[in-house]
Amino acid sequence: KKDLTIGMLGFGTVGSGVATMIRDNEKELTQRLGVKVKIGKIVVRDMEKERGTYVDHGVLCSNVSDVIHDPDIDVVVEVMGGIEEAKYAIQESLKAGKPVITANKDLMAIHGHSLLRLAHENSCDLYYEASVAGGIPIIRTLEDGLASDRISGIMGIVNGTTNYILTKMKEEKWSYEEALTKAQELGFAESDPTSDVEGLDAARKMAILATLAFSMEVHLEDVSVEGMTAISTEDLELAEQFGYSVKMLGFAQRDEDGIDVSVEPVFLASSHPLSSVRNEYNAVYIYGDAVGETMFYGPGAGSMPTATSVVSDILAACRNLLLGVGGKRSHNPMNSRHLKGEDH
Ligand code: NDP
Ligand code: HSE
Repeated sequence: KKDLTIGMLGFGTVGSGVATMIRDNEKELTQRLGVKVKIGKIVVRDMEKERGTYVDHGVLCSNVSDVIHDPDIDVVVEVMGGIEEAKYAIQESLKAGKPVITANKDLMAIHGHSLLRLAHENSCDLYYEASVAGGIPIIRTLEDGLASDRISGIMGIVNGTTNYILTKMKEEKWSYEEALTKAQELGFAESDPTSDVEGLDAARKMAILATLAFSMEVHLEDVSVEGMTAISTEDLELAEQFGYSVKMLGFAQRDEDGIDVSVEPVFLASSHPLSSVRNEYNAVYIYGDAVGETMFYGPGAGSMPTATSVVSDILAACRNLLLGVGGKRSHNPMNSRHLKGEDH
């Protein structure tokens, strides 16, 4: 069997973590897959930027087409973000029979349904584990681990930046601006952090989780959103005095009246397990009729935690490619129904 070659779109916080992990875990990855995985090309915007020593500058290129139309590229990893160019790259890759891994929740929340259909039609995999809760394998949990159960609700902290800001404002008395700047420096925040602090990033993730949990096409516009920019350190102190913490929470609930998905800052009893989730960490509660209450916890953002999810997706896609079973996921997007007007 020949080595499998990755074409990566983007080499920022996530992309550099992916390259580091493929280099550092080469032995384990080769053992698990039976063939070697190597990075053949990496697309970046600025070819002059200093990239560190762990990348061979010969693999860098500046045009997405250099990767998606290269017959030597077996698998495409989209970690550049944005919507239109990323969507085009994923569509073209799938049409060319190349499995795709993406960390792009902005894209998956808006176009995920059609992209998953395209992947299915082309017998290709489209994996997106890193798009929700960074290093926590929450997508696989809903697709596989809890697939037997009827999920009635999800509640969780799914944005690392806002949880980091709220933690630092409360524990270190940092101002909102100081905490946001640090979250940006650490690579947790989106390129436009408005989507973090206004709750949009969490809303995208909740739309993705609700779609999987309820087998419904839950769209971004179905999610009600309230941001956290109005919260002050005084609010956090006051909440603490009364035995509460303030957390940005995502909710997705199903009952006899339908489905309700929202993101908002809430007062949470300090004794609640989600109150103890600090910094960029995420935690997701999933309630199933049979299983009861489950909780998943881990880093929700950052280079190496997110790379862990991306590289696991790479392994899964490579394995399916070698077995010739691409596109045969347990969650079939063709079975999802539209949320509006079809609920029961
Ligand atoms: P960065 O801004 O750190 O990196 C983006 C990379 O993509 C850069 O290398 C940039 O090139 C390249 N790029 C961007 N646009 C283009 C373009 N049009 N053409 C070619 N190259 C381009 O982003 P992150 O790594 O933080 O995020 C990447 C994706 O992962 C996003 O979708 C994000 O939402 C998602 N994500 C991020 C997480 C995190 O913790 N940061 C966690 C989970 C998901 P150059 O280096 O030249 O600027
Ligand atoms: N900006 C996102 C966050 C990155 O803070 O959670 C991970 O999706």
